[in-house]
Amino acid sequence: MKASAPPALPATKDFLSVLDLPTGELTRLLTLAAQLKADRRFGEQAPTARALGGAHVAMLFEKPSLRTRATFEIAIRELGGHPLHLPPEFANGGREPLEDVARNLERWVRAVVIRTYAHDKAQTMAAATTRLHVINALSDSEHPCQALADLLTMIEQWGECRGRTVAYVGDGNNVATSLVHAAPQIGVSVHVASPPGYGLPAQVLEGADRVARDGARIRTFTDPYEAVAGADAVYTDVWTSMGQEAQADVRRRTFRPYQVDGALMAAAAPRAIFMHCLPAHRGEEVTAQVFESPASVVFDQAENRLHTQKALLLMLLGH
Ligand code: CP
Ligand code: NVA
Repeated sequence: MKASAPPALPATKDFLSVLDLPTGELTRLLTLAAQLKADRRFGEQAPTARALGGAHVAMLFEKPSLRTRATFEIAIRELGGHPLHLPPEFANGGREPLEDVARNLERWVRAVVIRTYAHDKAQTMAAATTRLHVINALSDSEHPCQALADLLTMIEQWGECRGRTVAYVGDGNNVATSLVHAAPQIGVSVHVASPPGYGLPAQVLEGADRVARDGARIRTFTDPYEAVAGADAVYTDVWTSMGQEAQADVRRRTFRPYQVDGALMAAAAPRAIFMHCLPAHRGEEVTAQVFESPASVVFDQAENRLHTQKALLLMLLGH
């Protein structure tokens, strides 16, 4: 069987936020990702196996990563590019300003994939260069690559997504931000339940409202049971994100009523799925029983990191 060629997608320089994608691009990216997933069986005969034409892509990770790092490296290689791992200290600007790091990289590589604490580091690299594509592999504020995989997983589960609702229960963090930026663009409403003081910032909610389509709404709650009522998916993330370790004890106590357990899942729609970006802490934000249940699609989300990031790389760098 002959592999099909990917659709052409217009160029966008950086991907620091889901909101960087022009209207309609998210849907096209997800269509391409599904195609790439199907085409992976062709291996080196896949139509995109040489799409990056030997280009180098730098990887600069200030924080630990399993999924993001592995899937970007595999994606770059399977598209005919070469990953270049940089030591994390280059992100702290100690040896030379981050602007200069970016301007050097621009002469050698097509893109940099950066995982950082401060979102403005990625913004600084993007602003310092005209040709270097900067991809946010997670900052303290946003995790846009995760949201791409989450949406592909929803499409696989539901087909038509318009009219569906995902309830995010937990910290109003980077993962929650990108989820509310992304899901409403394919018509999925998002209910966010967080303890008082841990909800999403108002500007994040305003940004999500601006891109919502097909009647999708973003609603905030403090009661997790109200948030999940009738929801088609229940999503959670760690209570303590990387960099917040000093707050772990307070957060463990504060978030205890927000644990996703069997009772909370039973309050959602009858065939609701369970979602988590991973890594998960069983016994904290989710029980082992829910994590291991047939409703759990967490490893589909992890797999889809690969296919959606391939689509993103093709969209940004492809020919
Ligand atoms: N979900 C996610 O980004 O995982 P890693 O931190 O392992 O990359
Ligand atoms: N919110 C988590 C996500 C990890 C993928 C963190 O930032 O640590």
